Amino acid sequence: MNEFVRCHKLDEQEAQLLAELRCCTIFSRNLDLDSLQSVVLERRELSLKFTEIYDRLLEGVHDRAAQDVVREIIREEYPGPDPAGGNLGLSHREDLVHDLERLGISRSRVISHKPSRQTRGVINATFHVIHKILSKADPQLQAIAFIRFWGEVLTAVEYESLWHVGLSRSFKSPADSTFYWFHLIHDRANRGFSDIRAPGYRSAFTHSDHLTLRLADLLNQNDRVDEVMEANRKATSLKTAFYRQFG
Ligand SMILES: [Fe+2]
Repeated sequence: MNEFVRCHKLDEQEAQLLAELRCCTIFSRNLDLDSLQSVVLERRELSLKFTEIYDRLLEGVHDRAAQDVVREIIREEYPGPDPAGGNLGLSHREDLVHDLERLGISRSRVISHKPSRQTRGVINATFHVIHKILSKADPQLQAIAFIRFWGEVLTAVEYESLWHVGLSRSFKSPADSTFYWFHLIHDRANRGFSDIRAPGYRSAFTHSDHLTLRLADLLNQNDRVDEVMEANRKATSLKTAFYRQFG
């Protein structure tokens, strides 16, 4: 398959899968504060697995440039203090708790929260998928694809959707949200596979864009596009299963 056809196939699938996620019932109505709090408390349980998932999948990646991208994303989860004094050096998960408090959830409720049966089921299923990926003879493409789609592309769409159905009413401005708004911007796919090589500044690349470029290069060497599409499909099923618990 030539690169042009492959890129369009991937972009088309991606649009379809993102539409599936956006169609979850929970994203179709304005949420009252109680419902919003329940959703974000459960969603935090997935965020707490983020670095473990990336660390596990990184072991299946042997492309040096892709390893660098994944390591950099993991490092960004724990930024050090800003010498200029602007950044308090909070981890992304601490930023998440900060945002939850802004939503009226007390710190004690956050830290004593236990995941629901459905959330635990989704987490188990996620690690099962990861285990299957890593058990393959060459897990690299699926490992990168899963990281990109589960951890970046879908995450941005989840937070964007939650922003529209409730989060936007709870923050004075986007800048007031240090976790959700930040990830909505920094994770989303600004470019598809078809325009990832278009002129423009690499410095403007999001996490998704960096991973798209690595995948595009690797697929040029090894045209296993079906594996990438399978990882995207599985990542989407896991996320839609998570949101189905809310009706
Ligand atoms: Fe990210």
